[in-house]
Amino acid sequence: MAAASTRPTAVSRRSFTAAAAATLSATMVHSSLAAADTRELRIGVIGCGGRGSGAINDSLSINEGVKLVATADLYGSKCASLWKAMREAHPGKVASADTIHEGFDGYRRILDDPSIDLVHVTTSPGFRPAYTLAAVEAGKHVFTEKPACVDPAGYRVCLTAHDAAVARGTAIVAGTQYRRQVNYLGAIEQIRNGAIGDVIGATARYCAGGIWYRPRTEGMSDAEYQMNNWYHFVWLSGDQIVEQAVHNLDTMNWVMGANPVSAFGSGGRFTRPDDSELWDSFSINYEYPGDRIVSFMCRQIPGAATDVSNVVYGSKGECHIGAANAGSRIFDPAGKEVWEMKGSIADAYKQEHKDLVDSIRAGKPIVELRQMADSSLVAVMGRMAAYTGQKVTWKFVTEESKLELFPKDLTWTSSLPVQAPAVPGKTKLI
Ligand SMILES: NC(=O)c1ccc[n+]([C@@H]2O[C@H](COP(=O)([O-])OP(=O)(O)OC[C@H]3O[C@@H](n4cnc5c(N)ncnc54)[C@H](O)[C@@H]3O)[C@@H](O)[C@H]2O)c1
Repeated sequence: MAAASTRPTAVSRRSFTAAAAATLSATMVHSSLAAADTRELRIGVIGCGGRGSGAINDSLSINEGVKLVATADLYGSKCASLWKAMREAHPGKVASADTIHEGFDGYRRILDDPSIDLVHVTTSPGFRPAYTLAAVEAGKHVFTEKPACVDPAGYRVCLTAHDAAVARGTAIVAGTQYRRQVNYLGAIEQIRNGAIGDVIGATARYCAGGIWYRPRTEGMSDAEYQMNNWYHFVWLSGDQIVEQAVHNLDTMNWVMGANPVSAFGSGGRFTRPDDSELWDSFSINYEYPGDRIVSFMCRQIPGAATDVSNVVYGSKGECHIGAANAGSRIFDPAGKEVWEMKGSIADAYKQEHKDLVDSIRAGKPIVELRQMADSSLVAVMGRMAAYTGQKVTWKFVTEESKLELFPKDLTWTSSLPVQAPAVPGKTKLI
C-alpha cells in the first residue's frame, strides 16, 4: 500500500471545487495529451467496487498502451481486491506497486498526482458531480459512471464540468453504455430513417427484482453506514429511478431527440427494509415536445415479473429495443417482423473505453457529460413528480429547483438521520 489517509475529512461541494481550483495551475502542464499522442495513458480509479472493477477491466481489456497506476476507495480492502484481480487478468497493464488511497480524501490524491492522465469516477452516484468537476479542474480525462447526478444542484455542477472539459480540451465519457451498443445504434438509425414513420410515443420499463442491502455493523457512524449501504439513501443513489432506470430514460431522450417538457407520476413502496429511504415502484408519464408521451415504469420487487425494455410507437410500425442482450426488432402495422439486430452489452461496456482512449490519442476528446446529466435530471424530475404528487416541468428542474441532497460538511463520523420515505401530497416540491 503506497498511502493511506485518515478518514474524518470534511467534504462538501464547495470544498471539492475550491481544492480543485487550488491545484489547477500545478496540473495545467498535464491537462491534455497533445494531438495524436501515443504515450502510455496512466489510469486512476476512484471507487473500487463492482463497477469500478468492471470498468477498469473493460478498459485494460480493449486498450493497448494503458496502465492502472492508482486506486482510491473509502475502504482500502476494495482497492486491494481490484489490484489483485487486475494483476491476474492484465499483468502487463498494471503498475508494479498497489497504490491505494483509502478514505474520503483518496480521490484528491489521485487528482493531485500529475502522472495520472485518466480517472475513472465509479463511486456511488452522490459523489459523482463534485468528483467529476474536480477531476476536470485537475486536468484529467474522465470516465464517469451513470447516473451523473441525483438532484438539480448536482446537474448544474455537471454542466460546469462539461463546459470546463470542452474549454480545456479534455475528455469525459459517460457510463451510458447503451449509446454504444450496436442494436441500440441500429434501432436509432432505423427510426431516424423513417422505418416506423413519425414517432408518436413510447413505453419504457426497468422492472427488476430486489437489490442488495448492507446492514449496519458495530461501531459504524451514520455517515459510514449510509455510504456503505448507499443504494438505500436518496442523497447517494437518487432512488432506483435515477440509479438504475436512467438507462431507459437516456434511451428515451435519444429516441425523442429532446428533453421532456414535464413529468407526472406516482409510485410507492411495499418491500423495502424499514430504514431504506427508497420507493420500490414508479410510474411516470413524460411529455416530450410534439405532444409525445413516454409511459415509463420501474420497480424493484422480488418475485414480480421482470421486464427491461423500450418500445417506440410510430405512425408506420413499432421498434422494440431490448436491454442487455435482447436485441432490437421492428414490426410493421400488421405485426410482421421486418428488421432485427442483435447486440452485446459486454461489447458496449468495452466500446465506451475504446472510444474514450481513441479520442484522447487522436487529440479529439469526446465530451458527453451533458447528455448523461440531462438523462439523469429526467430521472430526478420523475422522482420529484412521484414523491410530491405534483406535475414537474423541465423548466422548473433546470431553472428554479433548489433541491440539493448532499449533506453539508460531511465527515466520516457525521450524524445523518434517515429521512422518512416521501409521501405524495405532503412532500414539498423544492
Ligand atoms: N453502467 C452500468 O450498467 C452500471 C452497472 C453497475 C453499476 N453502475 C454504477 O456504478 C456506480 C458504482 O456501483 P457499484 O455497483 O460498483 O457499487 P459498489 O458499492 O460495488 O461500489 C462503489 C464503491 O465506491 C466506493 N466509494 C463510495 N463513496 C466513495 C468516495 N467518496 N470516495 C471513494 N470511494 C467511494 C465504495 O466504498 C465502493 O467500493 C453506481 O453509480 C452505479 O449506478 C453502472
